Amino acid sequence: LAPGRAAALAQLVRDVPDYPQPGVMFRDITGLLADGPAFADLVGAFAAAQEPGAVDLVVGMEARGFLLGAPLAVALGVGFVPLRKAGKLPAPTERVAYDLEYGTAELEVRTGSIPAGARVVVVDDVLATGGTAAAAVELVERCGAQVVDVQFLLELDALGGRARLAGRPLTSLWAVP
Ligand code: PRP
Repeated sequence: LAPGRAAALAQLVRDVPDYPQPGVMFRDITGLLADGPAFADLVGAFAAAQEPGAVDLVVGMEARGFLLGAPLAVALGVGFVPLRKAGKLPAPTERVAYDLEYGTAELEVRTGSIPAGARVVVVDDVLATGGTAAAAVELVERCGAQVVDVQFLLELDALGGRARLAGRPLTSLWAVP
């Protein structure tokens, strides 16, 4: 993305204070998704961050990782696997519990849906504490696959999520202090 275009896209993300609970700044990406050219540029920027032919599968976390990961998979010409919140997938599944900035949750993947040895890009909208992303990485690696990148729209530096992913490649389009 050209620097000016990146800034314009960033302005489409709305900051909502004290949502879903006091003290949390919610990053609302729906305005960016609703803008066709902005959404296309965003997916193009995610795709451009990957080496051609170096990715076998895109994995996205429920729910907003689906919105970015599925179009990225199409752009790269590979498949997409959803990591769902607990109880949404029929057995058999693999499951990992994790802490959120506000609460706890579990992520699941359908057993067998991520092939051993696959080169996987993990996608989500926001890196906050890193709990969600670390759980996603754990699921992918438990399947015997390799995380070649973890991609975010927005990285919230103050919450230290990058440290939770130590040793894994990480790409974010923007970071905020
Ligand atoms: C948000 C966001 C990330 C995660 C980041 O999702 O979309 O997945 O939190 O936080 P973390 O880095 O502290 O783990 P949320 O759990 O609110 O789920 P949703 O997308 O289904 O609303």
